[in-house]
Order: sequence, then C-alpha cells, then structure tokens
Amino acid sequence: MSFTNYYRDSIAEIDLSAIKYNIEQLKKRLKGGTGIYAVVKADAYGHGDIQVARAALDAGAKGLAVALLDEAVKLRQAGIESPILVMGWTRPKDAVVAAEHAISLTVFQEEWLEQVEGLSFSPPLRLHLKIDTGMGRVGIRTPEEMERILKIMGRQSAFKLEAVFTHFATADEANTEYFETQQKRFEELFSHFKRNWPENVEIHTSNSATSMRFPERMDHFVRFGISMYGLYPSPVVKKEKPIDLNPAFQLKSRLVHVKKLEAGESISYGATYTTEKDEWIGTIPLGYADGWIRKLQGMDVLVDGKRHPIVGRICMDQFMICLDQEYPIGTKVTLIGKQGEEEISADEVADHLDTINYEIPCMISQRVPRVFRQDGRTIAVRNSL
Ligand SMILES: Cc1ncc(COP(=O)(O)O)c(C=O)c1O
Repeated sequence: MSFTNYYRDSIAEIDLSAIKYNIEQLKKRLKGGTGIYAVVKADAYGHGDIQVARAALDAGAKGLAVALLDEAVKLRQAGIESPILVMGWTRPKDAVVAAEHAISLTVFQEEWLEQVEGLSFSPPLRLHLKIDTGMGRVGIRTPEEMERILKIMGRQSAFKLEAVFTHFATADEANTEYFETQQKRFEELFSHFKRNWPENVEIHTSNSATSMRFPERMDHFVRFGISMYGLYPSPVVKKEKPIDLNPAFQLKSRLVHVKKLEAGESISYGATYTTEKDEWIGTIPLGYADGWIRKLQGMDVLVDGKRHPIVGRICMDQFMICLDQEYPIGTKVTLIGKQGEEEISADEVADHLDTINYEIPCMISQRVPRVFRQDGRTIAVRNSL
C-alpha cells in the first residue's frame, strides 16, 4: 500500500508495535485481574489518538481515558466502542452528550451534580467519583462532601456510579512518604464511601509510576499513560526500570540543502552563529511551527549515525546544522530516535529544555504528519493539514 497524503519529509513515526509491547510488559507485572485503561488524552500524548487507542485495545487495554469530552467524542466517532472515561471537568449541560455516547464523566462537585440532575438521560449517565487525596487539583476532599454528593447520586436513577478514583502527585519520586499519605487518605475515604453506598464500584488510583512500581495496590484497573508510549515517568523510575519499555515516537526529517561556507559566515536570524573555519552547513525543513522550538538551538540531531549540532536560531519552518562532511540532499536526519548505535531520546530533548519527557511528543505540532508503523510496516498516515 502507498500513502501519498503528505508532501514533506519531516514526520513523526509512531511505532504501534512498541505501544503493544509496553502494555504487554505492564500486564506481566500487574496482579491478575487488574485491567488497563490506556490514557490517550492530548492526541495520545502527541502520538495520534485513534491509532494509539486501537493499538492499545488490541493489546488488551480494557478502556481509554482522556481529559476532555471532545477527545472522547472523537474516539466514539471513529467507531471505538470500549469504555471511555473523561478525567477532567465537563460543562454540566454537555453531560447529555456524554450519556448519548456512553462516555463516563468525572464527578466531584455538588453544584455540578445539582445542575446535571435536571437533565434527562438516555441511556443513564456513567460517572466516576474523583477523590482529591493530595494532588490539590480536582476531587472531593472530605467525608461530608462525599455524603452530600452520594445523596444526590442516590436519588437519581439516571446516574450510574461506576468507579471511585484518585491521582498520585509523587508516585515517581524516590521518597514515597507523600505517596503513602495519599494512599492512606484514599483508603479512609473509600471506607467512608462503602458505608454510604451499597453497590459495588471499581477502583482506579494508579498512573504509570504507581502501576509499575507498586502493582499490588487495590486497583481494579490502572491508568497507563506515559509508559505506554515507552517513556519512564521520571529519572528515578527509569533507573529502577520496573518493566522494560520501547519508545514509540521518533521524529525524522531529511537534508534539503547542503553548502560549504568559508570562515566568518553567519547563520540564521540574529546572526548568532558564525563559522570559524570552512564548514558544511545542512538545512532541515522543520521549525518552531512544528514544535521544534527555538530553545532547542545547540541540541544535536543524527545524520549518518553521528551527532551534529543545530547552529543558529531555529526558524519557523527550518533550521541549520553543522555537518562533519558533505552529504547528499535527501540524507536522513533523526531528531528523536535511533540511527545505528546513536540515540537521541525524548528524555535528552527534555533535559535540554529543562522540562519533562511528557512535554516532548505533545509539543510536536499537528503540521507534522504522523506515520504509523506496525511490525516494521507503514499501516496508516495522518496528515492534519
Ligand atoms: C488523572 C490522570 N490519570 C492518569 C494519568 C496518566 O499518568 P502517566 O502519564 O504518568 O501514566 C494522568 C496524566 O496526567 C492523569 O491526569
């Protein structure tokens, strides 16, 4: 099959076999019966939501988790029928849309439930109750709040409470004290819940760090995000390596122009780089509008299995590198990923930017086509332009 719906040589290559491999590694580590929700919010952390969701479900994920109702509806419209949870806040009036699409919403506010109570649902509205055990973002914090919410929930037969959940703030750190505090608060509030709610519900508390490091928690299912994409949630977890992971995201381009400059010639806006001797300069057709931001000046890219530095300012659509020799136009360039023995990981890019690896695939913009590979073959392409 040939894919001709893009006309540039800068692409993000997404290895769906890696997504499956990472899920299988986690499955081996979890205790029997613990299900996996694949976290595919934010366009599957920049990897491509629909293709990743399908790969994750094929690999045995039980459901999907997103941040926004819009993201969930998009998955349904693509024909995905698995359970989908929206983990963020949804406008009360849009709860009708969620019910129509059998999408589960997160609930944690009394006033939200009171507004939603006045709407009519068919089928029932699926809800997951969020407990804030110390993340300080969203969720109920006290037994009193819980009782008030359960009271409203109990009088509305169109509400179906499916699960209770929380989110850990420090599960990827070496010191587990705060994590244990959150776990204890969850257990206390969950006991209170049990005293006030007769029906069985599921529990999900774990993100990647928790599910990999502490798989014996009380979860019925875990919410697997960053490590499904083959990245460890922090340097601490990377060092511990509780499971083996394969990165799924590579960023690739090709040289579109190569020239030899004499000493004393400057490169790009602001003329911030000047050649000190005769230098081979290559131009790469990718820039800050693609998410390869200006702060990446000075980073390396791989050409011919070797590192070459980005020189001069990164422009909106192009940047330049200093080459060790002449290369033909069309030579492969790897910005994230492997060439031969050399690798530039998302972790290295994150270190250069003084941020976390989560941000790196997310920041590669929709202008960069996503090319989906499985078992060494291209199986789909998404060009969002
Ligand atoms: C509520 C919630 N659960 C799970 C996740 C997945 O976390 P991770 O990507 O660390 O696995 C996130 C990610 O931010 C989240 O916000």
